[in-house]
Amino acid sequence: MAIPFFKKKEPSAPSQAPSVLPVHVGIIMDGNGRWAKKRGLPRKAGHREGAQTFRKITRYCSEIGIKYLTVYAFSTENWKRPEDEVGALMGLFKSYLEEALSDFKDDDIVVRFIGDKSGFSPELRALMEENEQSSKDRDGMVLNIAMNYGSRDEIVRAVRNICADVKSGRVEQSAIDEALVSDYLYTAGQPDPDLIIRPSGEYRISNFLLWQSAYTEFVIMNKLWPDFQKADLDEALRIYAQRNRRYGGV
Ligand code: IPE
Ligand code: IPE
Ligand code: MG
Repeated sequence: MAIPFFKKKEPSAPSQAPSVLPVHVGIIMDGNGRWAKKRGLPRKAGHREGAQTFRKITRYCSEIGIKYLTVYAFSTENWKRPEDEVGALMGLFKSYLEEALSDFKDDDIVVRFIGDKSGFSPELRALMEENEQSSKDRDGMVLNIAMNYGSRDEIVRAVRNICADVKSGRVEQSAIDEALVSDYLYTAGQPDPDLIIRPSGEYRISNFLLWQSAYTEFVIMNKLWPDFQKADLDEALRIYAQRNRRYGGV
């Protein structure tokens, strides 16, 4: 059941409210394949169902006042999967970019893609850019969709770009610090994630936001992504609110 005190327009009794709502939430949308397998269905059926969960949870995050949501949809390593599965995923992305993302208009959601767009077909790339352009002036939650995203790849790109800018004299070598490196990542200008949720029970990061998650709180949940409900997000937020973030201090 959804927890009403997370709703942004209904201020709650302080005793019930979570002490802190994360500003930036990351979700590794994992477990689609296992969800389908359990039902004797092809893996792509799990991806279809997972896409519905993505829609529902994104809207919910926006409703309850999350400011940034980063969802991991396709990694730089996921190209290794069988051709028919990758093909099914590309087909799903296309139909989503054509239809469902326009739904986010009502929620005022800013849609951004993080990852290497050059890996996708020109048609998909154009749709991604169209979605970014048409949503960029909204003032609601920022939704980063990580597609063909790998954090090591992101860091390598950042290093290359910094080197090029040092070489051309745009950046002084002595000016390279943590803030500057952050500014060369896909998430430039955004706060680091406070909370990363991984459904499906896997205890690993799988190349997601490595630099940005230096002090992120992790919540691993046993639900497979297609089964993930608003109540599971509430549960993750409750767990997060009880964490004591020390950042190396005491
Ligand atoms: C996540 O679900 C979706 C993508 C990685 C594209 P999986 O397809 O990894 O599902 P499992 O982990 O095999 O169950
Ligand atoms: C991580 O899941 C990537 C996405 C959810 C898009 P994977 O299923 O690819 O990760 P591993 O292989 O279990 O580490
Ligand atoms: Mg997986």
